[in-house]
Amino acid sequence: MTWKKLSHKEISERVFGALDKNHNYMNTKVLGVPASYLDQEQFYFDAPFLKDAPFLSAMIANPNHIGIHTIGESEPFFAGTQEIEKELIELLATDVFKAKPNSIDGYVASGGTEANFQGIWVYRNLFKAEYGAKNEEIGVLFSEDAHYSVNKSCNILSLNPVCIKVDENTREWNLEDLDAKMKAHPQIKYWIAFITMSTTMFGSVDDPDPIIDKIKKNTEHFKVHVDAAYGGFIYPFTNEENKLTFENPYIESFSVDGHKMLQSPYGTGIFLCRKDLIHYTQTEDASYVHGTDFTFCGSRSGANAIAVWMIMMTYGYEGWKFNCQRLLDRRDRIATRYDELGIDYFCNPHMNIITAKAEGFNADIAKKYHLVADNYKDPKWWKIVVMTHVQKHVIDEFLLEL
Ligand SMILES: Cc1ncc(COP(=O)(O)O)c(C=O)c1O
Repeated sequence: MTWKKLSHKEISERVFGALDKNHNYMNTKVLGVPASYLDQEQFYFDAPFLKDAPFLSAMIANPNHIGIHTIGESEPFFAGTQEIEKELIELLATDVFKAKPNSIDGYVASGGTEANFQGIWVYRNLFKAEYGAKNEEIGVLFSEDAHYSVNKSCNILSLNPVCIKVDENTREWNLEDLDAKMKAHPQIKYWIAFITMSTTMFGSVDDPDPIIDKIKKNTEHFKVHVDAAYGGFIYPFTNEENKLTFENPYIESFSVDGHKMLQSPYGTGIFLCRKDLIHYTQTEDASYVHGTDFTFCGSRSGANAIAVWMIMMTYGYEGWKFNCQRLLDRRDRIATRYDELGIDYFCNPHMNIITAKAEGFNADIAKKYHLVADNYKDPKWWKIVVMTHVQKHVIDEFLLEL
């Protein structure tokens, strides 16, 4: 395990050291870059607290992490802070998703939507480049509980969305439906399986084995992306038997959001994929960018990547695991009371989401405590997400009222 906790001082020194290695707009002769530090009327460098605030200092210095830094060349101006991003990608890939060292590319994207899009985009272009596939010959398989970003990606990339039914109670893919839908689309020769490590509404986690087995029976041309936007910073820490890792040879990419469970700022979705894939989304026309561009977003905040790294370093792997377990303990208070009250609910034992059936559930209390409905027009489910701010006394108050 290489993801170790660092002290506040060590974190601070590392970030300021990285900023020093960047070309600083303040004291370097940078004439050609179409960017600068943040506006000095509003965000001035000489604010006294900045010397103890590495993230805010990085925000003001405003490094642009355009491109991808795990492969080839990158903009030399921001080499210092790019190293920090590279480190967090490698730690996540190896310590959390069990990849072999230096076998993964990745970057800090705008969010889970972009990271999911990036995965589907890579595979679409691979099928086109390697097999001459046409868009209408490529299908994306996902469950009805998958995040809507998969539909958005199919829409933008002109691919066929193929939605698979789930079991009402277990939320598992209906394998007969998977088989039938694949057979019902004979024009689709290439498939992208979009598997979810914690669905948004239920916290259910797809089991890759039966899904991949069924897909294999229908085609030899398929690729697997895992949407761990929500679950990536909790499920691998609470379930030692997690099967959604790079140890599974069929799984080739992940999206993992920092701005959900890790509590980093918005703009910290993370995309990871095996080496030898990212070139399928290389935009060679980006000729004025050193190393060109492989991402969907282009310019992106180096400070955001630093924020993810800083939070990871504050806890270390073991500290983060402890945090996750604490949330599950709080979730259990709710589960126990739901059991006593005879409330029907879905809850993955390793996840901090607990989703109750709306039938018989007091909707006024659900609304008062801002539970989230699957569909506000006609709720069938109400969910609670036990995040850090969901304190025990509020849970107790809610349960008492229930
Ligand atoms: C499972 C899952 N995937 C993807 C996303 C999209 O993430 P973002 O809103 O960061 O684009 C979400 C957001 O809730 C999600 O829950």
